[in-house]
Amino acid sequence: MTKLRDVAKLAKVSTATVSRVLSNAGNVTEKTRRKVLAAMEDLNYQPNFLGRQLRKMETKTILVVVPDIANTFFSKVLRGIESVANKNGYQVLMGDSQNKSENESEYLNHLRYKQVDGVILLTARTTPHLVEELSDSYPIVLACEYLEGSNIPTVSIDNISSARKITSHLIKLGHHRIAHIAGPKNVILGRDRLKGFEQALAQNNLEIDQILIQEGDFTYESGYRLMKKLLALQNPPTAVFAANDEMAIGAIKAIKHCQLSVPEDIAVVGFDDIQMASIFEPELTTVAQPTFEIGSTAMALLLSLMKKEKLNMKQFVLEEQMIVRESCGAKSNVIDSS
Ligand code: RIB
Repeated sequence: MTKLRDVAKLAKVSTATVSRVLSNAGNVTEKTRRKVLAAMEDLNYQPNFLGRQLRKMETKTILVVVPDIANTFFSKVLRGIESVANKNGYQVLMGDSQNKSENESEYLNHLRYKQVDGVILLTARTTPHLVEELSDSYPIVLACEYLEGSNIPTVSIDNISSARKITSHLIKLGHHRIAHIAGPKNVILGRDRLKGFEQALAQNNLEIDQILIQEGDFTYESGYRLMKKLLALQNPPTAVFAANDEMAIGAIKAIKHCQLSVPEDIAVVGFDDIQMASIFEPELTTVAQPTFEIGSTAMALLLSLMKKEKLNMKQFVLEEQMIVRESCGAKSNVIDSS
């Protein structure tokens, strides 16, 4: 049976170079790579990938856990992850925790059983000390969501200041009775976006009316249901900030079903800038998260952890952008990053 050293001998390279070609490591010139591949073909060399990986205890696979695969927000984050993973010879598996912390913990077991080399969590809802403990022994990166006070490498945006900016935008447009369809309070992003909303009201000396804060679960259905509830109030809001685009779209549907118009009767803004935000009628004013960059930065961090490199920086806070479209009533297509 042809061995790796036979290929190296024929190609006149070292066995390490043949290994690098096999693992797609990248630090081999194109000329050498071709020479090695030609030698493999001449000798009909069949590499035993499983054996190699077992010896190195590597799967060349990483797992990404998303909280809700139905939310299209995560597809571009995944694209960013995959682009860096593929270039570095890793394949990406995805797990959908369906917003359940117990599913998140289950997925983390793949690390213990060595079924994957590392994990990117786009959700941080399981017991914090479980993730902290695992991250001492295995490569884990958090993205989008984060754990307060944790030292685990994390990529996110500043959710508090972005929520404050978009609420202030509604206030600048003359709204004083603004509702918030919040994310779940047991999720850090729900709490942060609510905090930003409250800060904007306080900064503008506006009263925080608790009846105008309704807790959703980041789904279209909850946006629809809670907007109906807000519309049934004796003194309904003139504007709504929904903690993500899915809920904002649900809220707009509810407003339309009540024969009211957005933004003429009620202004609505969202968060995320999912693809549907610019397609929906009216087009949605929202906060655009740098989704692809969140994914690619998270994967680059995970690669460093898997290579046991020292990280100079562990917390990455990326820039977001407010995109002003029709649904807030400003009616101009300007980008406001103030
Ligand atoms: O999981 C819900 C939300 O978290 C998304 O809409 C997006 O904002 C993400 O950060």
